Amino acid sequence: MSKHIAVLPCDGAGKEVVPEAIKVLRAAGADFEFEEFDVNADAYMRTGVAIPDEVWSQLVKADSILFGAVGDPRVSESDYLAGVLLRMRFELDLYVNLRPAKLYDDRLSPLRREDKRAVDLLVVRENTEGLYVGMGGRFKKGTDQEVAIQEDLNTFIGVTRIIEYAFEVARKEVVMVDKSNAMTYAGGLWQARWKAAVAEHPNVKARHLLVDAAAMQLVKDPTQFDVIVTGNLFGDILSDLTAELIGGMGIAPSANINPRTGRGLFEPVHGTAPDIAGRGIVNPIGAILSASMMVRHLGHTDMAQAIEGAVESAIRAGDCTRDLGGTLSTAECGDAVARRLRD
Ligand code: NAI
Ligand code: MG
Repeated sequence: MSKHIAVLPCDGAGKEVVPEAIKVLRAAGADFEFEEFDVNADAYMRTGVAIPDEVWSQLVKADSILFGAVGDPRVSESDYLAGVLLRMRFELDLYVNLRPAKLYDDRLSPLRREDKRAVDLLVVRENTEGLYVGMGGRFKKGTDQEVAIQEDLNTFIGVTRIIEYAFEVARKEVVMVDKSNAMTYAGGLWQARWKAAVAEHPNVKARHLLVDAAAMQLVKDPTQFDVIVTGNLFGDILSDLTAELIGGMGIAPSANINPRTGRGLFEPVHGTAPDIAGRGIVNPIGAILSASMMVRHLGHTDMAQAIEGAVESAIRAGDCTRDLGGTLSTAECGDAVARRLRD
């Protein structure tokens, strides 16, 4: 039976890149039924509802969700983001956020040293806890006595399961990143669960780094990393850094998954790119590689490899958008990848 994919292009650049990802999936021969939903800032402004109940019940039933990006200066960023993306991550319990970074062509690296460029790593970011749960408050808001508290929520189960997942996908080594020297309560729980996991996996190399040292090492020599596991905030920040090591925001893919239930939402790392959206120049590769992560998650390993191969070939040939040094439009770049899959 063909898989049912819920499609949420959302706003700005998301609306431009998602159709290219679907184009490439079709060219790769994916037997999927795509259903697009009208979840975006226009609908939110019209109705005041981020995701209507009838849409939500469809999203929960879908085999996977293909997502673009949300964001619009006309709506409250935090309410809208919480109502769409964070709601799906939290309520579908998509606790693993995978952000791979692989350099497809040497010319895309910003690093001067040639021997440090060949990055091929995976950031495993905790996706349902940490500082993003929205707990806390503002007391005496707007006065000069204001107190703002943002709480960092970490649970035994949440920390244990994300570290365990990192060990399951490691090829060479797992590096756990935290700030346990300064943030001692959350850090203490992460350290305890980390040490337990290390003891359970004597055959996998394991190393701990503080987040500041990790940021430094990622610029100094990213080739040393295989799998990095970390909390929600640090994972968000470090994965923008790793995106820049492989060619920038336009190329970086991500998966939000629950490996136990099989649920998944796949989206480029980038946002709505308001500075360049609407001109047909945004790079669709991040969305295309996210679609390839989706087919891999759904069990089609060969198809995922074929899409990645086609992307690599297009990039190396210079068949890409201007952010990667090419001259193609968004749709032409999608065509360049799709053509390689049909040939
Ligand atoms: P952004 O990722 O949209 O843009 C950052 C920079 O990367 C910009 O210079 C942009 O032109 C460039 N860029 C992004 N995507 C690109 C692509 N496909 N091709 C070429 N260049 C690309 O992040 P920014 O500017 O911080 O946020 C813009 C809006 O997007 C905000 O409303 C924000 O809340 C939202 N956002 C949404 C996300 C999501 O839906 N997951 C993630 C990040 C931001
Ligand atoms: Mg980010």
